[in-house]
This record gives sequence, structure tokens and C-alpha cells, in this order.
Amino acid sequence: MEKNFSLRELNTFGFDIRAKYFQELKSMDDIHELIENPEFRQTHHLILSGGSNILFSSEFFDGFVVYPNLRGIETLEETDETVKIRCYCGEVWKDFVDYTISKGLYGLENLADIPGKVGAAPVQNIGAYGAEVKDAIYQVHTIDLMTGNIRIFNNDECEFSYRNSIFKKYKSIIIFAVDFILKKRGNLKLDYGNIRNYLANKNITNPTLQDVAATVKAIRAEKLPEVGVVGSVGSFFQNAIVSVDKYHEIKMLYPDMPSYPVDTAKTSFRPERSAVEKSTALIKIPSGWLIDRAGWKGYRENHVGVWDKQALVLVHYGGGKPQEILDLMKKIQDSVYNKFGIEIKPEVNII
Ligand code: EPU
Repeated sequence: MEKNFSLRELNTFGFDIRAKYFQELKSMDDIHELIENPEFRQTHHLILSGGSNILFSSEFFDGFVVYPNLRGIETLEETDETVKIRCYCGEVWKDFVDYTISKGLYGLENLADIPGKVGAAPVQNIGAYGAEVKDAIYQVHTIDLMTGNIRIFNNDECEFSYRNSIFKKYKSIIIFAVDFILKKRGNLKLDYGNIRNYLANKNITNPTLQDVAATVKAIRAEKLPEVGVVGSVGSFFQNAIVSVDKYHEIKMLYPDMPSYPVDTAKTSFRPERSAVEKSTALIKIPSGWLIDRAGWKGYRENHVGVWDKQALVLVHYGGGKPQEILDLMKKIQDSVYNKFGIEIKPEVNII
């Protein structure tokens, strides 16, 4: 266990946060030892993964930071159609995606280059370019740090939805491994945004798995700040979800506003819930567009700002304090509310 530990390398915003106590967990034995540790049991704690979706609101975390970092990838089962793979929580997500692509397995290609670790992927059901990780997850292995109970959640029990899962509710469980089910043959998802245009510009008419992953990586590199170079957490805000009435109201004023239907039927595997959700139609409006239209894109104030290629991303240029990001967040939320009457919510976990 370390004391007064710097988390600068463990939050992609790059703020110099100190934790009162810090412990890395490399094995199940480490986890069991922590559970027995009286210091841990008496102290407020936080489970930290890759730090790519977290904003510490103060520069001192007066508690115990637990950093699960179990490593390893195992093939569990192979059929003619699919392969089940177990990946431990500390593996770097983008390296794991590259590994599955090198094996010719379909399912994670649109999620290439997302920062963070495998153990955090189910928590917010990471998604990009028309795909969400929930569609490739078979089950999730967890251990409760208060009771030591191990529980395996099957896909349905994870209650996945847009940037959400049941794991956001549990503050004391560690996801120590995730089992994925990937396909040996698959349908590539090319319909999101400019994937097709990108491929066409490269004269690729019959794209492979590798082509799609390379395209996603290239589009991301154009739009998002490079992790480790400019401080950010990717999307800082969630996209807005509004009623059909609200959508029509804004669309009248801004006919070029992009929007997507909210795919509730697919985000829930429970028929009774999706029936209710389907009856209340909702529309997703990109918060990046709202923030852009409110005039914030490329804005900079001291050490922080709004990324000039994607307004959904707040950036820390170095030397700043978390409060500067929080102040900027508030100004943007107020401005979007005043212009469109829509409340945009942070996607990042604010601690
Ligand atoms: N847009 C603007 N101005 C901007 C940004 C976006 O007009 O500054 C418009 C775009 O032109 C487009 C629409 O908004 O019509 C959507 O933009 P984009 O395709 O870039 O995606 P997004 O909805 O802003 C989401 C995810 C990203 C993910 C991309 C691609 C969320 C909160 N964000 O962004 O995820 O990479 O789609 O799939 O859902 C992340 O979660 O950290 C993240 C980066």
C-alpha cells in the first residue's frame, strides 16, 4: 500500500491528484488480502481503472484508491462460428481489440483505440461507430470488496443501455475479468458517420475486418485528442435524449440538426422493459452539435478548453486544476440550456 500517491499518470485528464492510500491489485490473492485489511475496511474507497473516464473534483482524494490490474487473455471455447475469450481487467482495451483483430475475430473492430482498460469497458458499456461492447460480452466476473462474494453476471443481468450498466450502481465490486463471445465470420458495421466515405476514398470496395479497424482508428485520430499528449476523457458529456415534441421544436429552428432514434429495443434484453420503453419514443441529439452551435468549439480559457475538432471533448492543456474544468462544464451547460432548453449531462464520472 502506498501513501500520498500521485494519480497524475492514472487519470487521462492529467491532473496532479494525490490519494491518501493507493493499492494496486495484481492477483486474486491481492484482492483477498485487501478485503482482510482493516485500514481498507475503515476507509472510504474508490476503484480506479484506466482513469480515462474520471474527473477528480479536488486535488486530494481523502480515501483509499484501489487499482485492479490483473493481466491475461485466455481462449475458453471455440466452435465453428464463435470463440469465447476471457480477458482480465488490467489488459489495455485497445491492445485487446488489436489482439482479437489479429486473430480474425469479429465483434470489437468498431471499438478500436478507445482508451481505458478491459475491466472498465462493461461499466459504461463503451460504444463507438455504431457498436457497443454489450453485443460482444458473454459474462462479467466480479468480486465484492466488502463481502468477498464472487458473482458472475450474464449479459442480461448486466442491464446494459446507452453508456450505462448495473455496475455503475455498485461502488464496491471489482470486475476482475470479462468473457467475450466473438465471431469467426461477421457482418461489418459500416453505416455510422463517415466510415463508408473513408473507405471509398481509399478505393476499398470490399472491406476486411482490418480495414474497418484501421478506418475507425484514422477517424478517431482526426477528431479526438491523443491520449497522453492532451488531457481529456474523450466525450465529456453524454448525448442528449429528448422527447419527440422537443425534437420537433428545435428542428424547426435548426433544420440541419443531426439526430438518431434511441434504440431502446436493442439496449434491453428484457421484453417487459423494452415494451414500455418502445411506447415512449425518444430522440438522441448529439451534444457535440449543441455545444458547437452554442459557439464553444475551440474555446480556451487558461489551462482548459473545448477541443477544436469535436466540441463534446473538454481538454486540459496542463498545469491546471480540476475546478477549471468544472467551471467550464457549468458555463457550457448553462449556455446550451439557454439556447436550446436542453440539459446536457456529463458522461465522465465526477468524484
Ligand atoms: N458534431 C458537430 N460538432 C461537433 C461535434 C459533433 O456538429 O463539434 C456533429 C457531427 O457532425 C455529427 C454528430 O454531431 O453529425 C455526431 O458526432 P460524432 O459522430 O463525432 O459522435 P458523437 O455523438 O459526438 C459519440 C460518442 C463517442 C464516439 C463517437 C463515434 C458519446 C457521448 N460519444 O460521439 O464516444 O467515439 O460517437 O461513435 O456517445 C467517448 O465516449 O468518450 C467517445 C469519444
